Amino acid sequence: MEQRTLGRQGLTVSAIGYGAMGTAVGYGPTDDTESIAAIRAAHDLGVTHFDTAEMYGWGVGEQLLGTALAPIRDQVTIATKFGFTPTFAPNSQLEHVRSVVDNSLRNLGVDHIDVLYQHVHDPAVPVEDVVGVMKEYVDAGKVKYLGLSNTTPDNVRLAHAVHPISVVQTEYSIFARQSENFFPVLEELGIGFVAYSPLARGFLSGATKPRSEYGPDDFRQHIPWWAPENYAANVAIVDQLTELAASKGATLAQLAIAWLLAQKDYIVPIPGSRNAARVAQNITSAGLVITDADLVRIAEIAPNGGVVAGS
Ligand SMILES: NC(=O)c1ccc[n+]([C@@H]2O[C@H](COP(=O)([O-])OP(=O)(O)OC[C@H]3O[C@@H](n4cnc5c(N)ncnc54)[C@H](OP(=O)(O)O)[C@@H]3O)[C@@H](O)[C@H]2O)c1
Repeated sequence: MEQRTLGRQGLTVSAIGYGAMGTAVGYGPTDDTESIAAIRAAHDLGVTHFDTAEMYGWGVGEQLLGTALAPIRDQVTIATKFGFTPTFAPNSQLEHVRSVVDNSLRNLGVDHIDVLYQHVHDPAVPVEDVVGVMKEYVDAGKVKYLGLSNTTPDNVRLAHAVHPISVVQTEYSIFARQSENFFPVLEELGIGFVAYSPLARGFLSGATKPRSEYGPDDFRQHIPWWAPENYAANVAIVDQLTELAASKGATLAQLAIAWLLAQKDYIVPIPGSRNAARVAQNITSAGLVITDADLVRIAEIAPNGGVVAGS
């Protein structure tokens, strides 16, 4: 698979990565054996970058990813994140950060984390101080590269002045376009971008269902694209995108991932799937050519991303 460079510090990964959130939380019941098979299938097909977080099961997701990758640890890069409380509030108090990162090393069963992210900006702690603690781990050889997630372009600039930031990770897909406001600062400072929820949390997977068909703990209960007043309009967008994908001999998921790869050469999408066949389908997107005409047609179909009434 094509390789992409994230930042100027030497981080090079497969153009498509793997997001492991769903193996622990968010999208309904999981089967660890199937998830491990999906993770290994991703690696067999050329994926070298794997993404998790403390928050994905509070250690459980990291343990599963560490187990899956243990036999191939030296062939992959692993990213994890700190900074949420169990009620999804930010917590980057410095002692808390140290304790979470120490736990992540243990949970993953590794002697270093390749990419350490602050998962969300904490307004109570200056980002410069947080990066100061992250730098301690780099200096100790326990972390290779630093990243920020769910932050602002201004914070990226402040953080980068303390220690080089290699990658920013925020939500980006045909449905979620707000992250494009990071591109100027990323290009100015030479920072890479990891696109999370590239399939719009499954809306762009070809397998979406109305909210009522998901369980009470499913994250999609809270995502506006699934709200009853928005759902039909978003399905109508997806139907047109599916038609475009089919005209190219591709699936909707493949079109959605290839669209991201076509935006910038420093973007790495990290689709998540707990199923080896769906992982294989997603990875095949790397070979799908998106033409200028496709970009125009996608912009016509979804000029403002997914529909959210009132926004
Ligand atoms: N930094 C952050 O705050 C943040 C937030 C969210 C996500 N992330 C990262 O981004 C990764 C990906 O995002 P995501 O998991 O939210 O959403 P996503 O990749 O946009 O979509 C995942 C959903 O799509 C389904 N799916 C995937 N490929 C499919 C295919 N080919 N056909 C049909 N269904 C398919 C998955 O179900 P199955 O598993 O059943 O296939 C899952 O329900 C996460 O795993 C996580 O690492 C980061």
